[in-house]
Amino acid sequence: MEPTSRVIVALDFDNRRAADEIIDRLGDECRFYKVGLELLTAAGPDLIKHLVAKGKEVFLDLKLFEIPNSVAGAVRAAGALGVSMVTVHSMGGTDIVAAAVAAARDFPRLRVLALTVVTSMTTSDLTDIGINASTDVQERRLARLAQHAGCHGVIASPQEAAPLRAALGPSALIVTPGVALPGESPGDHARPGTPHAAVASGASHIVLGRTITRAADPVAAMQLVRADLGRACRTS
Ligand code: C5P
Repeated sequence: MEPTSRVIVALDFDNRRAADEIIDRLGDECRFYKVGLELLTAAGPDLIKHLVAKGKEVFLDLKLFEIPNSVAGAVRAAGALGVSMVTVHSMGGTDIVAAAVAAARDFPRLRVLALTVVTSMTTSDLTDIGINASTDVQERRLARLAQHAGCHGVIASPQEAAPLRAALGPSALIVTPGVALPGESPGDHARPGTPHAAVASGASHIVLGRTITRAADPVAAMQLVRADLGRACRTS
């Protein structure tokens, strides 16, 4: 996969104008955008239709955790918008994940990705909700559950990509947020990594938000990401 296809830029904005501005500035530098609940709620689905009409791929990060019927409806709505990726919480169990996967079958380009343990959670947070497992054990358990339910891949931190690649095999998508450039402050990321480290560990795609969208020169920041990824492709 060429470096540009692996990079997903997260449009974490509360208004359409800010999103349009960065999309225009990045132009052909970025082919893949993530739209989350903040921007979807603030700007509505027209932005997604606009991105798809421009030939961009869209990862709609809905983080679904609902009864299976409602999950299926939301996935169908996402598929009808033309998005390429949608997320579902595997902590909701097999029926919820399987409902998402079944609903996505009508949309050949749509991939369903499972969230396992969100990166802000610790083993002690799991204990609080009655789960007596470490975050990494729980994450692998949920990743296997998602795969058995037919998911195309998982969301994971860069530091968890290697064991998940080993557990899920070569064709699973492993999409890693929590990515920053070498030397950049990890900010609020719990288990961060560089583009090179994430891909060398087995990530198929990386998600970057503020590293690109808050850069003084977003195009230059994308070029640094691609240069770092090129290093990963040559050495892996
Ligand atoms: O930190 P950054 O701006 O790169 O975040 C981009 C995306 O990564 C966010 O939209 C968020 O969904 C995701 N993220 C995450 N875990 C974190 C931090 C960010 O999943 N610890």
